[in-house]
Amino acid sequence: MENIMSLPTSPSSSIAFRELSSEPGVSHLLAPGEMVRLKTHLIPDPPYYFGNRITGQLGALVKEQNPDRVYLVTNQLLLDLYGEELLKSFPEQDLKVTVITLEDTESAKTFQTLEYLCETLVEKNVSKASLVIGFGGGCLTNIVGLASAMIFRGIRYVEIPTTLMGVTDSSLSNKQAVNGKHGKNQFGVYYGPVFLFGDTQFLMSEPVGGKKSALVEGIKNGWISDPSLVDYFEQKLQTRLEDYTEQDVTELSLKVILSKLEILKMDPTEKKLGMILEYGHTFGHAMEFMTKGAITHGMAVAKGMCIAAELGHRLGYISREVVQRHYRIFGDILGLDLNIPENITIDDMLQVMVSDNKKTLGGTKFVLLERVGKCLNPDGDYQVKVPAETVRAVLDEYKKR
Ligand SMILES: NC(=O)c1ccc[n+]([C@@H]2O[C@H](COP(=O)([O-])OP(=O)(O)OC[C@H]3O[C@@H](n4cnc5c(N)ncnc54)[C@H](O)[C@@H]3O)[C@@H](O)[C@H]2O)c1
Repeated sequence: MENIMSLPTSPSSSIAFRELSSEPGVSHLLAPGEMVRLKTHLIPDPPYYFGNRITGQLGALVKEQNPDRVYLVTNQLLLDLYGEELLKSFPEQDLKVTVITLEDTESAKTFQTLEYLCETLVEKNVSKASLVIGFGGGCLTNIVGLASAMIFRGIRYVEIPTTLMGVTDSSLSNKQAVNGKHGKNQFGVYYGPVFLFGDTQFLMSEPVGGKKSALVEGIKNGWISDPSLVDYFEQKLQTRLEDYTEQDVTELSLKVILSKLEILKMDPTEKKLGMILEYGHTFGHAMEFMTKGAITHGMAVAKGMCIAAELGHRLGYISREVVQRHYRIFGDILGLDLNIPENITIDDMLQVMVSDNKKTLGGTKFVLLERVGKCLNPDGDYQVKVPAETVRAVLDEYKKR
């Protein structure tokens, strides 16, 4: 169901957008400049404004919030690339925008950077009536979101993701965090932005490696809940990512966003059905952790999904053809290395998985496919308990491939 609405929502602005639902069958084609508003189904539920070349509308959306001051937090590269375009959207007589740049690497996602940002915002006179915009990848927006949650116990935050992972996945979570000495994302809170704003023009400068990592999560949404998405990727990825037009990136992003929203709609807290988003993650997390991040999250999860498919096949749930399809899409088409790294032993990997699992699951359990587009759900639990010897046998065999 699509319902079209154009709204001048306040006398001072004319913001035009179309409400788009995440139901199957809606058109994913957006013209340049066309903005849609998506319901995120999160708790709280920030609206998601999305489109290609829609940044001209950002200033009006921010102005609707009636902030006393606006703080744009980004990194130097993104400021150089897009600062002018962004700031053009905020007429000076309307809003005062202060720009702050941060280092936004994974190793800078720390308490130290968080403290620097909080203190800088206070020095620059942030108030309870201000609004902070995080413009960047997941590392940057995680820090900015957490700072917004903490300053004066919470000031308004707007998230503008600039990576495919951010646009299609990580921004749809309300999760804000920094890393600790002993692990990733150890300190954080759930804190929703007042709205999300995704303009796919920004994705064109993102390096291909990051895009591939994000695509892994997008393809995962297909395996776990939408067979047509797997068909779509199998076809679409025949074209090299480097050759994608803005239109291609927009269509692909919207498809992945809507697939995630369909899952969130049924389980906004990701505790029940939402657990299926963890497909491939138990194996993937172990490899990511053991290589200290040398294998990125997406690359590790791709390997993890292939191992989970082998496990599902061994247990008699899915056919060899479905397993082969995993290898075809992630390996042959997307060009990812699907091997378990040489320096990781199966003993160590099992140990990491057990200790990772213990924290949350009370035993080694896995999300497994019943078929393409549907996960197993024995006894109402999407985490399937598998005997340790079966897991070991599958891993031993996989390591030798
Ligand atoms: N909140 C969540 O639920 C959640 C989910 C998944 C990941 N994350 C976090 O997100 C982080 C990963 O985020 P990411 O994948 O978005 O990458 P990233 O933030 O690590 O960015 C990677 C690099 O790309 C650069 N970059 C970003 N956008 C660019 C653009 N448009 N053009 C050119 N360069 C650009 C960044 O400056 C950075 O150097 C991790 O810290 C992870 O923990 C959070």
